[in-house]
Amino acid sequence: MAMVRRSVLFEFTEDTFLGRVRAVDTRKVSIHVKTDSDLRKAKVGQLVSLKETSGVKGWLIGLIDKVIKFVSVSESEHNEKNQVSEPVPKLDNGDLVLRLEGGEDVINTVRLTLLGTIRWNAEEKGWRFSRSIVQVPDIEAECHVLVNKQLESFMNLLTTAKNPEQSLALGKYTIDESATAYLDGNKFFQRHAALLGSTGSGKSWTVAAILEKAAKLPTSNLIVFDIHGEYRNLRYARHLRIPGPEEPGKTSKITLSEYLQEVLYLPYWLLNAEEMQAMFIDRSEFSAHNQVMAFQDAVIEGKKAVLANLKKTQVLNAFTLDSPIPFSIDAVIDKLNELNEEMEQGIRGLKQGKFYGQFGRLLTRLRSKLSDKRYGFLFHAPQSEHDYDAMTRMVYKLMDYKSENSQVKVIDFSEVPSDILPVIVGLVARIVYQVQFWTNHENRRPLVLVCDEAHLYLPKKEGLNPVEQRSVEAFEKIAREGRKYGVALFIVSQRPSDVSTTVLSQCNNVIALRLTNSDDQTTVKKLMPESLESLLEVLPVMDIGEALVVGDSVLLPSRIRITQPEEKPLSATIDFWSEWLKDAAKPDFARSVENMRKQGRG
Ligand SMILES: Nc1ncnc2c1ncn2[C@@H]1O[C@H](COP(=O)(O)OP(=O)(O)OP(=O)(O)O)[C@@H](O)[C@H]1O
Ligand SMILES: [Mg+2]
Repeated sequence: MAMVRRSVLFEFTEDTFLGRVRAVDTRKVSIHVKTDSDLRKAKVGQLVSLKETSGVKGWLIGLIDKVIKFVSVSESEHNEKNQVSEPVPKLDNGDLVLRLEGGEDVINTVRLTLLGTIRWNAEEKGWRFSRSIVQVPDIEAECHVLVNKQLESFMNLLTTAKNPEQSLALGKYTIDESATAYLDGNKFFQRHAALLGSTGSGKSWTVAAILEKAAKLPTSNLIVFDIHGEYRNLRYARHLRIPGPEEPGKTSKITLSEYLQEVLYLPYWLLNAEEMQAMFIDRSEFSAHNQVMAFQDAVIEGKKAVLANLKKTQVLNAFTLDSPIPFSIDAVIDKLNELNEEMEQGIRGLKQGKFYGQFGRLLTRLRSKLSDKRYGFLFHAPQSEHDYDAMTRMVYKLMDYKSENSQVKVIDFSEVPSDILPVIVGLVARIVYQVQFWTNHENRRPLVLVCDEAHLYLPKKEGLNPVEQRSVEAFEKIAREGRKYGVALFIVSQRPSDVSTTVLSQCNNVIALRLTNSDDQTTVKKLMPESLESLLEVLPVMDIGEALVVGDSVLLPSRIRITQPEEKPLSATIDFWSEWLKDAAKPDFARSVENMRKQGRG
């Protein structure tokens, strides 16, 4: 069998020579650079290559962390300053070696972090780069900078994606703008991903760029939580909208963009037992236990009645309190009211019933929630939404991937008051997850929940009320167990330090855009492997739309300039000065005030 000759990967010359290895500490390597002109070839963030231990015909790739120039002083000058009596040690080339207080020798030095290895792959008959480091370089091994043709050859290794169909083209590498940066689309979503960056750093645009690519796949399945209505103009997506407080029973005209969005009600009977308790029961009350019992009994009765009426025998035998089955909340209130006022026949005439007066507060809470306009999407859905089949229809709206433009589903939450946002986003996430969970293995299709502005509804749990805690827990469950059922989270936030740690720490791939706040930088650093910390120094100085991508979806942790999406989200930064330069119509604040009163811009 004829051996395929190895192609030559790098042709290094004097021009690319940087220096020789002087110290190795697992992934950290120090290079001794002889001359100042050699040192000038080194720049922080640049890639270098080292020969693997003699005998193994591979290359190690490193990233320059630090460039240190030795400042030479005359021997007498040095001795005078430091009052050193013993002779100063000298290097081969005559340079002085100065001992600093830290005890470290200072000569012309380049420090670098090893990133991976290039080896010949006999099966694929080509060079392959991998993130593993099996061999460290020998002392005195040559180190060359990767520039021009050398850099090109290396970038080719990264960009000739092994399997082009699995690749998600995100942008161009900052170090070589002619090379396209691909993510492995499988690995990126497999174990959750995060997109983090200060406000205006380009997160929403990056989301749109990824959605655009994903939408082109025939049966992709992504659900976007759109908190500000930024994605409502994307033409390739299906648009859903949670109705605002003024909407149930609304008679006034709806706007065009509202017309293009399907309304998504979430009727109250979708709540599970825990969510209902969190919403209606006050644990601190003396009668809380009885309240829970009576409430649950009444709900079970309600669900039973509906099932019996519809002759759903199988479900009737197996359903639980948590099962999403329509029931009448009014009947539950009537029942509780009855118990609350019940009188029994005693020996000496009528006496108060077992629960007499215990449900007063519960009833007040129930009635106030029901009349609270903000909860209209739960309690005031049209009658058709309370059909037994309504849930199936709702799930088709949310999770279909087969009809036209249904691969990306954008749910517009912009009409939802911020204080109940966590509850309802959490409810949607839980329903999607559970439907996925209960789908047979063969029919299950992977799906991604894109959580833009995640800090608003996925905060750390301290100080949350019980209802909000439930919704964060829904996401935490997905973060922990979603992988097995093909549900991935794509967390997007400008305040990573405010986002639930449980959720964020499960994200295996991170796209970090410019990040200026130091708390947030610390949070991001914690998500990344320690050896890459020096890379993160660039977080505050990156350009808009420029990102550091780390994780198993990229061959190399890299700075990438993200390609702009063709269809841009409505998040454009406002140009204050230019706007002020223009003439404008008389303001109509009366309308704004009315909108504020009715909680909707319709
Ligand atoms: N890849 C990019 N290339 C060039 N310009 C970009 C890019 N991404 C974003 N921008 C510019 O930055 C602006 C803000 O971007 P974007 O709305 O995506 O920020 P954001 O991070 O989502 O902000 P926020 O946290 O406030 O939602 C855009 O209007 C656009 O002008
Ligand atoms: Mg945004």
